[in-house]
Amino acid sequence: MSAKDMARANYISSKLLGRKRNTVEIVTEEPIENIMKEIETDTTIDRHNVMDMCQELLNEPVQTLNRKFALEGLMFALNSTMPPQMVALDAAQAWTVYWITNSMQVFDQETLDDEDRRKIVDKLFLMSKDKGPFSGGESQLPHIASTYAAINALALCNNIDNCWDALDRKAIYEWLLSLKQADGGFTTCNPVGECDTRGVYCALSVASLLNIVTDELTEGVVKYLENCQTYEGGFGATPFQDEAHGGYTFCAVASLCILNKLHTINVEKLMEWCSARQYNEELGLCGRGNKLVDGCYSFWVGSTAAMVEATTGVECINKSALRKYILNCCQSKTGIALRDKPGKNGDFYHTNYVLMGLVITESTFKFKIDAERKSPYDMVSVPSTTESATSDLIPINPIYGLPADTVEKFHKHFT
Ligand code: FPP
Ligand code: ZN
Repeated sequence: MSAKDMARANYISSKLLGRKRNTVEIVTEEPIENIMKEIETDTTIDRHNVMDMCQELLNEPVQTLNRKFALEGLMFALNSTMPPQMVALDAAQAWTVYWITNSMQVFDQETLDDEDRRKIVDKLFLMSKDKGPFSGGESQLPHIASTYAAINALALCNNIDNCWDALDRKAIYEWLLSLKQADGGFTTCNPVGECDTRGVYCALSVASLLNIVTDELTEGVVKYLENCQTYEGGFGATPFQDEAHGGYTFCAVASLCILNKLHTINVEKLMEWCSARQYNEELGLCGRGNKLVDGCYSFWVGSTAAMVEATTGVECINKSALRKYILNCCQSKTGIALRDKPGKNGDFYHTNYVLMGLVITESTFKFKIDAERKSPYDMVSVPSTTESATSDLIPINPIYGLPADTVEKFHKHFT
């Protein structure tokens, strides 16, 4: 390494990454493998194990989606009560309903009948007796993430028994306003809660779908989000201080799309960051630098790339490689649900986000009606013509994580 390169490496390490130790230059005749061994950590060992497991599955031809298997599992889940060992999900009941219902609809919109829809609506309204904001379980405090999940799940119920009209939008609006912070962010819950880009996204998603967005609600939000973009190009959880992460990046980018303000951030850097999340070896996406591939980032990062694509016309991830990761590594021969990576069990969270990730890999993205107006309700996936085989899934709106026509119909109902 030249002296100039060394100085540069030191600058990046200490000033940009804030590391305390100096950069070490090793000059050696030894093969690189031996040196790699010396700097082996738990993380590098985990990565190598994952690479090995993926490699074996990726040597096979691209698999097809086992629709029957996955749908049977989802239908079983919808008709079962949660077993006691799932008590940890007690506050995630609205989420669980959304993950299962949405996965079924992304497979095929005919999978739910009116009886199923009634059951879903009854379950959701147990978590909001006054039909205002929703909690994550019965008799718990209202929470912004549960409200987001419940509103999405209700949107999927096609106004059965006029359930959309039963919602108290005024109470939801006033509650959202009560969560608003002076810096433009939203806390998740009153009286205490976390405040990061997740709160902003959940608030804006709910408010835009229910058509209750006001200047008062959105004041300072764009600045807050702009300040969350880090030097890497992705977004951290809160302004100025966090590591960029796929989950928070999705929330920030989707929020900016809802406000039609994506152009105010550094989109080129964001695209670089999205591309850097894809591994050459596993073909799937990770959520942040030096972490492991995970199927759910096919949506959190994949959808971010999709929103950028709809806005700029440019793709920044390798969709067909990601498709192979999803089909070969996120399905298992024995488990009914889709999974994070080989070696893990499937679950409903991953089923939902991996499935929507699969839609992303088989689609291109655009604004349906008027590309100039860039309305979030019009952003849609269009089946791609370059992929030879498709999994025959429903087009989605990447901003809301719902089928595109569900977003259109639900939002139209309130305008
Ligand atoms: C890191 O987990 C993950 C987080 C800190 C939060 C991720 C946020 C989301 C997925 C977005 C949530 C979205 C809404 C709408 C509420 P980890 O350290 O286990 O994972 P990693 O190793 O992949 O980073
Ligand atoms: Zn995951």
